[in-house]
Amino acid sequence: MTIWFGLTTIPPVISSLHPPSQDSSDSSDSHGGKKGASARGDIASADSAQKVSTNASVKKDFEGMKLRIIYASTSGHTEHVVHVLKDFFAEKVPKLEVTLQSVESAKPEDLLKGDLLILASATWNIGATEGHMNPHMHTFLYKDAKDIDLTGRKVGIIALGDTRYFFTSRASERIRNYIQESGGTVFGFPMTIINEPYGQEDKVAKWGEKFLTKLQEL
Ligand SMILES: Cc1cc2nc3c(=O)[nH]c(=O)nc-3n(C[C@H](O)[C@H](O)[C@H](O)COP(=O)(O)O)c2cc1C
Repeated sequence: MTIWFGLTTIPPVISSLHPPSQDSSDSSDSHGGKKGASARGDIASADSAQKVSTNASVKKDFEGMKLRIIYASTSGHTEHVVHVLKDFFAEKVPKLEVTLQSVESAKPEDLLKGDLLILASATWNIGATEGHMNPHMHTFLYKDAKDIDLTGRKVGIIALGDTRYFFTSRASERIRNYIQESGGTVFGFPMTIINEPYGQEDKVAKWGEKFLTKLQEL
């Protein structure tokens, strides 16, 4: 079945519709900081009048295709972004099956599940050094999943960061290195969200639109 989407305005992204434990494999933040659920809830009302508009065309409905997003999030920012992206995909291509999974609940073999994978992490310090991925993501990828072979896998990247830090948003490069070292291929351009993600939902949706456009080339 072929569906064309033209100039489209989707409803406001009400992220509070998706509490963090909504997905069976999705465990909420449990290691300090402002939790994602409250962070998203805080802004949901502030953003209630916001419209996320995109104008690219998406031809396929992606029926039967599965996308897994494994994310790390300490203060809830990355968690907010992946929920916004999931909401966008649900509105735009409801037949694309999207699974969100927190890295704390992920097993190495989860990296191989589904047709496509996205790894999402903010930039943090590991030990004394800044410019790394979230420590939970780092431990998962470089300890738990160090022997996983990603040959043939296409993996998208979502990275967050903050301009207060010199190595802004370097998590993107760190994730890319892991994908390539493990034999995988980076899919599309990384999504980079600098500073607080609240109010940047348009950017997430636009990236999602490009992601879908690239996906239909597969
Ligand atoms: C201890 C600490 C270290 C950080 N180091 C960096 C960094 O090196 N580069 C950067 O761009 N952002 C850095 N950040 C900012 C985070 O990447 C940013 O706040 C991000 O939105 C957090 O996302 P999360 O809540 O999903 O983990 C750091 C934040 C903290 C608290």
